[in-house]
Amino acid sequence: MKLPNHVTLLEVGPRDGLQNEALPVSAAHKVELVRRLLAAGCRDIEATSFVSPKWVPQMADNTEVMAGLPRQPGVRYSVLTPNMKGLEAALRCQPDEVVVFGAATEAFSQRNINCGIAESFDRFAPVVAAAHEAGVKVRGAVSCALGCPYQGEVSADEVERVVVLMKGIGVDHCGIADTIGVGTPLKVQAAIERALRHYPLAEVSGHFHDTYGQALANILACLELGLHVFDTSVAGLGGCPYAKGATGNVATEDVVFMLHGMGIATGLDLDALVDAGAYISGVLGRPPVSRVGRALLAKRGVAVNAP
Ligand code: HMG
Ligand code: MG
Repeated sequence: MKLPNHVTLLEVGPRDGLQNEALPVSAAHKVELVRRLLAAGCRDIEATSFVSPKWVPQMADNTEVMAGLPRQPGVRYSVLTPNMKGLEAALRCQPDEVVVFGAATEAFSQRNINCGIAESFDRFAPVVAAAHEAGVKVRGAVSCALGCPYQGEVSADEVERVVVLMKGIGVDHCGIADTIGVGTPLKVQAAIERALRHYPLAEVSGHFHDTYGQALANILACLELGLHVFDTSVAGLGGCPYAKGATGNVATEDVVFMLHGMGIATGLDLDALVDAGAYISGVLGRPPVSRVGRALLAKRGVAVNAP
């Protein structure tokens, strides 16, 4: 088993994490979270979404958040852009990367972005072209690649169909997303292998919600395939408002603990990540979901109760 020596973690807490919070989180708190993530060594951060504020009110402050972000060499901020309206607004804020998000199932596509898969790609194609014209890289997310809250089981063929559509419109990087956290290691490997038929290793990533506690095992299964880019969310923040019951992404702290324990570098400082996780959890008024975060806070003598 040849594992990667270095793994890149893309921090999605400020976007995927905070899009699902019932209580509004101010732009100032979001920017402060990003500052703390930068202090922990994060270099790839999904900052916000340029989606309809009627659909996801938590991201309505996208422009304010982008304006407040510290810009540093080597730091890349990505934002979600489901259509041209979103892209045009995003480009005014100078993102380093934009994300189109499709789904492996018709039902989830309809619920999440109000159109079927074919129509979603008609909307994404000009977004990709215009982003490239502006010199901005495009990631694509394939949601519900391991299971769908409306359809149920999802086959590797259905995943590959959408990967091929992503490739066809020129999406640079393909993220395989387990939106509801039902994937298990062998199924995850099967889905990732379909993406690797069309994208090089460095341009495929895993995005695992930890709803059923499978995310670390799924990441290990991906590492066995040589995959070395994953989305994670500090304090285990997150969920998708259009996937009922979906909990947060795998916690960045938990993944970093596992990877460092395996001798795999991330460039991240675990203690500083725990600080960032404790900070945003404090803003939200609850303990971090991250097991490692809670364990290290307890070791520091900070009282934490399980959420
Ligand atoms: P729609 O209603 O079909 O859009 O929504 P429309 O083009 O018919 O426009 C309707 C109204 O929305 C108009 O305003 C537009 O201007 C406005 P009105 O005239 O009624 O006042 N509008 C917009 N406003 C701001 N920004 C925009 C925009 N587009 C239209 N970009 C749409 C289609 C895609 C906009 C909507 O369905 C939407 O915003 N969906 C977003 C859902 C979402 O953000 N979900 C969570 C992110 S995905 C996720 O979490 C999964 C991921 O983490 C991976 C995984 O875990 O699976 C990535
Ligand atoms: Mg997600």
